[in-house]
Amino acid sequence: RDLAAFVAGLPKAELHLHLEGTLEPELKFALAARNGIQLAEKSVDEVKATYNFTDLTSFLAVYYPAMQVLQTAEDFFDLAWAYLLRAKQNGVVHAEMFFDPQAHTSRGVSFADVITGYRRAVVRAQSELGISAELILCFLRDFTAEHAMSTLMEALPYRHWIIGVGLDSDERGNPPAKFAEVFARAKREGFLTTMHCDIDQTGSIDHIRQVIEDIGADRIDHGTNIVEDPELVALAKGKGLGFTTCPLSNSFVTDQMKATEIVALLRAGVRVMVNSDDPAYFGGYVADNYVALAEQAGLDQTDLVRLAANSFDAAWLTPTRRAEYL
Ligand code: ADE
Ligand code: ZN
Repeated sequence: RDLAAFVAGLPKAELHLHLEGTLEPELKFALAARNGIQLAEKSVDEVKATYNFTDLTSFLAVYYPAMQVLQTAEDFFDLAWAYLLRAKQNGVVHAEMFFDPQAHTSRGVSFADVITGYRRAVVRAQSELGISAELILCFLRDFTAEHAMSTLMEALPYRHWIIGVGLDSDERGNPPAKFAEVFARAKREGFLTTMHCDIDQTGSIDHIRQVIEDIGADRIDHGTNIVEDPELVALAKGKGLGFTTCPLSNSFVTDQMKATEIVALLRAGVRVMVNSDDPAYFGGYVADNYVALAEQAGLDQTDLVRLAANSFDAAWLTPTRRAEYL
C-alpha cells in the first residue's frame, strides 16, 4: 500500500516505547527455553489468546508476569536488539526507549544485568543500524516513592547511559505528586523527565496539570485528554511540551484510538507525535500506528510529515543533532 510505504520511508523518532513491551511470543519461548523456565502457554497462539485487554490494569496483569523469562544481561540485549531491528524497518532513526528496572530487581535480577544488556544493544544500534538510541528509566508508580528513590540511587553509577526518567504502571491512586521529590532529585542529577498520564485513568486531567505546573516535566506520555482544558492546552503549547501518543495502545486499553484528541492537538500546534508503546502486545510497531491514525482520521502526507517533525522537535536531541533531521 502507498500509505504504508510512505510512512515506512518517513524518518522518525520513537519516544514512547517500553522495551519490556516489545517481547514477542516467539522470543518469549526462546528465552524460556534458554533459561529452563516452564511457561503456562504451549504455543504462540495460546500466548496471543491472553491479549484480550479491556483496560490498562488487565494489560499490566499479562505484561509483568511475561518478564520472568528475562534473566540475564544477554536476554535484555536480545530483547532490545530485536526491537531495534524492527525499528529500522519502520523508518526509526532515533529511539528513546523506556525500561522498568523495578520489574526486574524486585524478582532478583540485578540492575547491572538489566542496564548492561540494554546498553550493548544501544551501542550496536548506532554502529550497525545508524540508529541513535537512548534509555529512559521508568519508575513503577504503584511502588512506593522510597523504592523509586532507591532505584534512582542505584542508577547513578550508570547515569551516562540514561538520558532521563519516566513514570509508568498503574496510575489510579498514584498521582505525579507522589513522586515530586524523586523527580526533583532526578532533575538535580541531570536527568530529563517525562511522566505517563494515561488516558483512561480517573483524575487524569488533574494529573496532567500536576505534571505541567508542579513537576515541570519535559514531556507527557499519552496525556491526550488535555483537550478537555483549552487553557492547559495553551500552556503546554507555549512551553513546547511534547505529547507521546499511542493510537493502537489506546484502542486496546480503551474503546478507541483517541484520533479526535490527537488530531485536535496536532491542529492546535501542540508537539504531538505517534509511538507504539508496547508493540508486541498492541498489534503493531510505530509505522502501523501512523497508518492506523491516518486511516482513522483521514490524515494526508503533510500531516504525517508534521507528526514526524514533531517527533524530532520533542526528542531529547542536541540542537545540532535535531537539525540533521528537520
Ligand atoms: N507500562 C508499559 N506500558 C504502559 C502504559 N502504556 N501505561 C502505563 N504503564 C505501562
Ligand atoms: Zn507507555
